[in-house]
Amino acid sequence: KQALIIAIDGPSGVGKSTLSRRLAKKLNYVNIDTGAMYRSVALAAHRAGIAPDDEASLSALCLRIEIRFVRQDEMERVLLNGEDVSEAIRTPEISLLSSRVSAHPVVRRALVELQRELGRNGGVVLEGRDIGTVVFPGADVKFFLAASAAERGRRRWLELRDKGLDVDLERTIEEVEARDAADTQRTHAPLRQAQDAVCIDTTHLDIDQVLERMLEVVAQSR
Ligand code: C5P
Repeated sequence: KQALIIAIDGPSGVGKSTLSRRLAKKLNYVNIDTGAMYRSVALAAHRAGIAPDDEASLSALCLRIEIRFVRQDEMERVLLNGEDVSEAIRTPEISLLSSRVSAHPVVRRALVELQRELGRNGGVVLEGRDIGTVVFPGADVKFFLAASAAERGRRRWLELRDKGLDVDLERTIEEVEARDAADTQRTHAPLRQAQDAVCIDTTHLDIDQVLERMLEVVAQSR
């Protein structure tokens, strides 16, 4: 089988984005960062002054916005109504807001539909929280990435610091834990491992080691 659908799920800060990008590149597949979609809705809501629990307004908002992914100078960019929001969606404030707006079924329905559309022909790596359980339960390969909250907080902190943001390590770990709790405890499409997913604990592995393991699994399922 050639054009596979590969699902990568896991909690925040586990390295999903980096691994998904690297895996897609190796396989010459398209990488789809579904978290960026929820973040874009959160940013749009924030700018429009819509409260994260105002389901009706969020529903209307989803109909008005257009989210697209484009490649620019080897980089993947997220466009919200044509505007490059790749950086604006990564702030700690939008991270927390995205977790709140993503709990609404109306928001999830709209974005899942878009994700299925983008992935249906295969040749894609989709990363998120519910790819293997909800978006593509029939995905050819499913990964579930895990790591301790302390290690994930540390990774996120390094990432934000690299971008020049002045953030506190303890606070970053707390924010990771808060989002974990919200993402695993919500009623609709909570974060959980699909039964047939291959789980990789990345706490003590570097990116290259995890990527190697993933490539082995993909090779076996071809
Ligand atoms: O992966 P990322 O941290 O960018 O995702 C931001 C938020 O979007 C998550 O905390 C989660 O609440 C939500 N999300 C989701 N389902 C996905 C991807 C992300 O609910 N498939």
